[in-house]
Amino acid sequence: ESSDDGQWGSRIGFILAAIGSAVGLGNIWRFSYMAYDNGGGAFLIPYFFALLTAGIPILIMEFGFGHKMRGSAPFSFAKMGKKWEWLGWWQVLVSFVIATYYVVVISWSLNYVTFSFNRVWGENPEAYFFGDFLQITDGISQIGGINFSVLISLLIVWGVSYIILYNGIEEGIEKASKIFMPLLALFMIIITIRGVTLPGAMAGINKFLEPDFSALTDVKVWLAAYGQIFFTLSVGFAIMITYSSYLPEDSDIVNNAFITALSNSAFSFIVGIGVFGILGYMAAQTGEPISKVVTSGIGLAFVAFPKAINMLPAFRSLFGVIFFLALAIAGFSSCVSILEAVIAAVRDKFDIGRKAAVNYVCSVGAVISLLYTTGAGLYFLDIVDHFINQFGIALAGLVECIIIGWFYKVSIIREHANRLSDFAIGSWWDIMIRVITPICLGVAFVQNTMKELAAPYGGYPMNAILKYGWSVAAGVIVLGIIMSLRPWKGKKSDELISNR
Ligand code: PHE
Ligand code: NA
Repeated sequence: ESSDDGQWGSRIGFILAAIGSAVGLGNIWRFSYMAYDNGGGAFLIPYFFALLTAGIPILIMEFGFGHKMRGSAPFSFAKMGKKWEWLGWWQVLVSFVIATYYVVVISWSLNYVTFSFNRVWGENPEAYFFGDFLQITDGISQIGGINFSVLISLLIVWGVSYIILYNGIEEGIEKASKIFMPLLALFMIIITIRGVTLPGAMAGINKFLEPDFSALTDVKVWLAAYGQIFFTLSVGFAIMITYSSYLPEDSDIVNNAFITALSNSAFSFIVGIGVFGILGYMAAQTGEPISKVVTSGIGLAFVAFPKAINMLPAFRSLFGVIFFLALAIAGFSSCVSILEAVIAAVRDKFDIGRKAAVNYVCSVGAVISLLYTTGAGLYFLDIVDHFINQFGIALAGLVECIIIGWFYKVSIIREHANRLSDFAIGSWWDIMIRVITPICLGVAFVQNTMKELAAPYGGYPMNAILKYGWSVAAGVIVLGIIMSLRPWKGKKSDELISNR
C-alpha cells in the first residue's frame, strides 16, 4: 500500500465529511423555500416520506456499495459488471460539471464576506449584485470579459480545495471537516437565533410552517419532496460511494446513514426557521406582504440577505460576515466531496497517485470555471445547473436504483450492511430500492421532461438551451460511455480481472 492510499482516521471523521457533503448551499437557500412553496408545514409529510422511502434507503445502498466494492464509482460499478461502468463515469462527470460552477458561487460568497464589512452593496443590493459586482451582459449571446474580483476569490477557492484534497482523506478532508462542521453549526445557530428574535419574525416563520394540507393531494408537491431529498443528501452523483470506500472494514453502515441523513435534515430545518424569521422581519420593516420578500437560491443569498442586513438594528457587518462565511463553508465542504469523487475515479482508472490526480482535476476544473466569471457567467450557470439537476442527479439516481435493484442482487448489499450494523434493515428496503423509488423518480422525470420540451427553460433562446443545457446533459452520458470503454491500468485492473 502506498502512503497516499486514504482511509478515514475515525468514525466521526467520516460522518462529519459525509454531513459536510450533504449540507450545502441547498440547505441554506433551497429547503425552506421548497417547503414554503409546497404546502408549508404540510410539506414535511411528503418530505419525511421521501426521506424514509428513498433518501435513507439509497444512502444505505451507496454506503454499503462503496464499502463493499472499495473504490470510486466507476470502479464499483465495473466490479459489479463491466457493462455498468459507464454509470459510474456518468455520475462522476455530473459531479465534475457541478464542481466547476459550485466553486464560483463559493467565490462570490467570499467576496461578500469582505463586502459585509462596510456593506458596499449600498441601498440597492440588487443593482449592486447583478451590475456593479457581476457586471452581467444584456443577454447570453454577449459573453463579456472576465471579472477580476471574482477571479481572485476563485483562485483562493481553488487553492484551498487543492490543499485539502492534496493532503488526502485523513489529513485533508477529515481534518478540514473537523474544523468546518462545528464552525458551520455555530454560525447556523447564531443566524437562527438572530432571525427568530427580530420583530416580525414569527409572521415569517408561520408562513414557512403554516400547513396547507390540500397540498398533499398535489402530485407536484410529492415530486418536489423527492427531488429535494436526492439533491440534499448528495446521492446519485458518486460522492457517497467514494466516501464510504475509505471506511475501515468494520463500520456501521446503517447507523452512519441515519446519522448523516437526519443531521442534514435538522440543519435544513433550523436554518429554514432563521431564514424565514429574517424574511418576516424584512416584510415588517418594509410593510410588504411576506410573499413579496421570499425568494430562494442566488437571489435569497446575494440580494434579499444584503437587504435584510441593511435593515438590522445592530451588528450589521458582523452578521453579514457570519452569513456569507457560513455559505462559503457549506459550499467548500460539498465542493471538496464532489472533487474527491472525480479524483478517486481518475486514480482508479489510470493507476496514478493522489497528487497527480489532484493536479489534473483541479487544473482542468479551474480552466472550465473561468467561463462562469464572464459577463454571461450567471446565465451559463443558471442553465447548466438546471439541466444537470434535472438530467444528471435525479436521472442517474433513477438508473442507479434500477441497475442495482434489478441487475444485481440488492440483498447482497443489504446483507453486507446488516453484517456490520447495529440495526438490521429488512427486506422492505429491497422494495424501496427496486420499486418505490424508481416509480417516484420515473414519474418526476417524465413530468420534468415534458415541461422542458414545452418551453425553453428560463426564457433563454433555444440555441443557448441546446448548447449549454441539452448538450451538457447528453455530453456527460456520452463521455461517460467513452471513458468506460477505455482499459483499466495497474492494480485496479488486476482486481477487476481477479473478481471475474
Ligand atoms: N447536498 C448539497 C446541498 O444540499 C448539494 C451538493 C452536494 C451539491 C455536493 C454539490 C455537491 O446543497
Ligand atoms: Na443538503
